[in-house]
Amino acid sequence: MKILVIGSAGQLGYDLNRTLSPDHSVQGADVERADFKIDITDPESVKMVLSSSAPDLVINSAAFTNVDGCETRKEACWAVNADGAGNVARACAAASLPLIHVSTDYVFDGTARQPYTEASPIAPLGEYGKSKYAGEEQVREALPGSHLIVRTAWLFGSFGHNFVKTMLKLGRERDDLAVVNDQTGGPTYAGHLAAALKTLAETRLGDPGVYHMTGGGHCTWYEFASEIFRLAGVNVNVRRTTTSEFNAPAPRPAYSVLANTRAPEIFMPHWRDCLIECLKEMGELQAEC
Ligand SMILES: NC(=O)c1ccc[n+]([C@@H]2O[C@H](COP(=O)([O-])OP(=O)(O)OC[C@H]3O[C@@H](n4cnc5c(N)ncnc54)[C@H](OP(=O)(O)O)[C@@H]3O)[C@@H](O)[C@H]2O)c1
Repeated sequence: MKILVIGSAGQLGYDLNRTLSPDHSVQGADVERADFKIDITDPESVKMVLSSSAPDLVINSAAFTNVDGCETRKEACWAVNADGAGNVARACAAASLPLIHVSTDYVFDGTARQPYTEASPIAPLGEYGKSKYAGEEQVREALPGSHLIVRTAWLFGSFGHNFVKTMLKLGRERDDLAVVNDQTGGPTYAGHLAAALKTLAETRLGDPGVYHMTGGGHCTWYEFASEIFRLAGVNVNVRRTTTSEFNAPAPRPAYSVLANTRAPEIFMPHWRDCLIECLKEMGELQAEC
């Protein structure tokens, strides 16, 4: 297949390119790319890139992903996550192309105590989750029979900005670090999500709707940070803190573990194994696993 990846300069875009490339022809496009520039907030830009790339499938991993920034830059956040997603979906509909659109666990309010399925009720708390859900709705409306919406969570990888890199940096700068212990989620390795998206692209384009794809197991941010420091041999005192003490600008779900009930044949390794793989790739793995 010829696949256009929008958001190719981002964390997931990087892994999509290297995962899809051996078996498919991949064209990457992003807002800052000199060769294949796209601004999904501009419908004309999207149409032009689709017509010059002429793909068989579009994967949209572009988003305004700064969760706290979405609270203060609401207009920009909605332009990308809601209307931008809609622009991509409408351009795909006009060109009769299927779309895989990436979404988030933050569409849920976190009051559940068992994993959210693809059919669980939506109730986003902050602007990021609300705008991403509005994007999902625009995708569904434009492409009722030829979209896959893939919700993921707590993404990390060797490329781009993420919690693993932030913790390694802070852990080396400080003696003492407080990390939130009352938010639980499913850390997901971007390389494994890219492999899951590849399988979905190859097997599920005829089966539209929402899919959940996250790393196996679950943990709190505190537990995730502690394991990062242990495996990377970083000596820092990690303390548990609470969401209210941490006082981030954006509200976040207390529990956003996702259950994959739609495509159980796709195996996502446990987050701890993913972390080991990621640290190994970064040259940061020190401890005996
Ligand atoms: N990161 C997470 O923890 C997480 C969790 C759940 C779901 N997700 C979802 O997973 C997907 C991939 O996330 P990621 O971590 O790979 O994000 P990322 O690293 O921030 O990549 C997103 C890419 O989209 C680009 N972009 C932003 N505005 C654009 C526009 N108007 N037109 C075209 N491209 C634009 C960004 O460019 P700039 O950097 O130059 O703005 C960036 O290269 C997103 O849909 C996100 O909502 C992420």
